[in-house]
Amino acid sequence: FRAGELALAEMRRKHNTPLKLLCRLAAEAVLSIPSGALPHRDIIGQLPGQVLRASGGARLLLRRPSLDEYVLLMPRGPTIAYPKDVSAILMMMDIHPGDTVLETGSGSGAMSLFLSRAVGPNGRVLSYEIRDDHHNLAKKNYRHWRSAWEIGHMEEWPDNVEFILKDISTAAADMRSVTLDAVVLDMLNPQCALPVVHLSLKQGGVCAVYLANITQVIDLLDRIRRCKLPFLCEKIIEVTHRSWSVLPAKLKHLPYIARPSHWQEAHSGETLGQSLS
Ligand SMILES: C[S@@+](CC[C@H](N)C(=O)[O-])C[C@H]1O[C@@H](n2cnc3c(N)ncnc32)[C@H](O)[C@@H]1O
Repeated sequence: FRAGELALAEMRRKHNTPLKLLCRLAAEAVLSIPSGALPHRDIIGQLPGQVLRASGGARLLLRRPSLDEYVLLMPRGPTIAYPKDVSAILMMMDIHPGDTVLETGSGSGAMSLFLSRAVGPNGRVLSYEIRDDHHNLAKKNYRHWRSAWEIGHMEEWPDNVEFILKDISTAAADMRSVTLDAVVLDMLNPQCALPVVHLSLKQGGVCAVYLANITQVIDLLDRIRRCKLPFLCEKIIEVTHRSWSVLPAKLKHLPYIARPSHWQEAHSGETLGQSLS
């Protein structure tokens, strides 16, 4: 671990529930946990994957955060696209290294980071956002991840996201100069973006729309039909994940007890269309 990179500290609490804390390492800083503290200087210089003891005796596993852990723990403005949903969306969009994709809105920047990784150094992500506080937060979260990555991995994370502060429904002129391999819409009223983005979405390209409830899906499909927008709805899916808890049993004749954990992750509906024009 080096100063300036991100470290994830993980400890187990009562009933084996994990507590994850994210910090940017700085020589003078201290990581506070509910039952004590661990100075960053004890972490700097260690290899990721070590278990260290905080004052108060708690054992902390220190490692580098994965991208999904980072987006779940980074500062948040609007709700992020959840990593479990992002995996499904990326699969539906079928994007590749080198592709050009458009997203709206940037929000807290979670989806932008996953898109950045998927299209790689030769690809391009255009990320539109109407609110300047969200635009700035998305840029900041992206910048922090990139700089920590560079220190921890000694190689550059692609600088391939263009954050654009603009209402997507007024971006028709911008669309004339690009060809989009795919589009993802994560905004309250995606209907207003479709007439604009379809102008540059390549024929057969995918537009994935991330929606929180099924009535929004119906409104969207209704708008596509009434306005005769050139999209075909291919599929609508809900992504559910169920976590399991597997713990050593207290009774000697049973090695482990396994059961679904009580906590269920949030779910979502998504629609997927294909450009016909
Ligand atoms: C749920 S958030 C997006 C979260 C983001 N995908 C992430 O993973 O962090 C929705 C965002 O869309 C933005 N938005 C809403 N209408 C918009 C429009 N017409 N043009 C651009 N951005 C818009 C909102 O300001 C908000 O920041």
